Amino acid sequence: MKGSVDNIKTVFNDNADIYADKYMSVAKYQNELQQLCKLIVEDEARILDIACGPGNLSQYMISRNPKYRILGIDFALAMISKARSLVANVEFQLMDVREIGQLNQKFDVIICGFVMPYLEDEDIEKMMLDIKKLLCQNGLLYISTILGEKDEQIAKKSSDGKNDLMIRLFTEQTLSDTVFKHNLTMEYLSVLKSAQSDENANDEIIVIARNQ
Ligand SMILES: C[S@@+](CC[C@H](N)C(=O)[O-])C[C@H]1O[C@@H](n2cnc3c(N)ncnc32)[C@H](O)[C@@H]1O
Repeated sequence: MKGSVDNIKTVFNDNADIYADKYMSVAKYQNELQQLCKLIVEDEARILDIACGPGNLSQYMISRNPKYRILGIDFALAMISKARSLVANVEFQLMDVREIGQLNQKFDVIICGFVMPYLEDEDIEKMMLDIKKLLCQNGLLYISTILGEKDEQIAKKSSDGKNDLMIRLFTEQTLSDTVFKHNLTMEYLSVLKSAQSDENANDEIIVIARNQ
């Protein structure tokens, strides 16, 4: 559905500043990100940050080890511009997730932060196949996404509250199946419960998997 992809891009372009203000701090995910860093053995690990947004996860990673060689990609130019202005010593490139297969290099770590809710089933499948090709043997894949019922889709407000985007939710089982189907093994799984006081928040799930 090209129309909805264009709409998603427009909404993220329009919300880059607000998104960065809200989510540049990744303190909420520090246990999961620390776990990822603990599992990385390469001092100069090559890291791909898919749908990097304003570079929040890349910023955390480069702060943990300035020797990491990080490439962040996103299809929203405003997000890439934001990331370039906020995060030093990381390369950011304008690119659609559906084009990552064209990248001509291997990665020790691939980070896939909160993009799966915005992708069609077939794009998730293609992304997983591309990730599989891009990941080194024993490489690590970090996925964060939103938990829900099987095949559930909900309307979620954009950061500025002006738009609703339809997002795809995952059960623990469907996310695990996606990982296992591509011959990755699970290293870590964490469920983050949303605050009950926040009606708009959803539970989240983070997995770290290893390429075989
Ligand atoms: C919710 S933000 C996540 C940002 C960051 N990864 C994080 O975890 O906070 C989703 C990002 O995915 C990007 N995105 C959505 N669909 C995309 C696609 N098909 N290709 C590349 N980026 C995409 C959006 O532009 C946006 O920056």
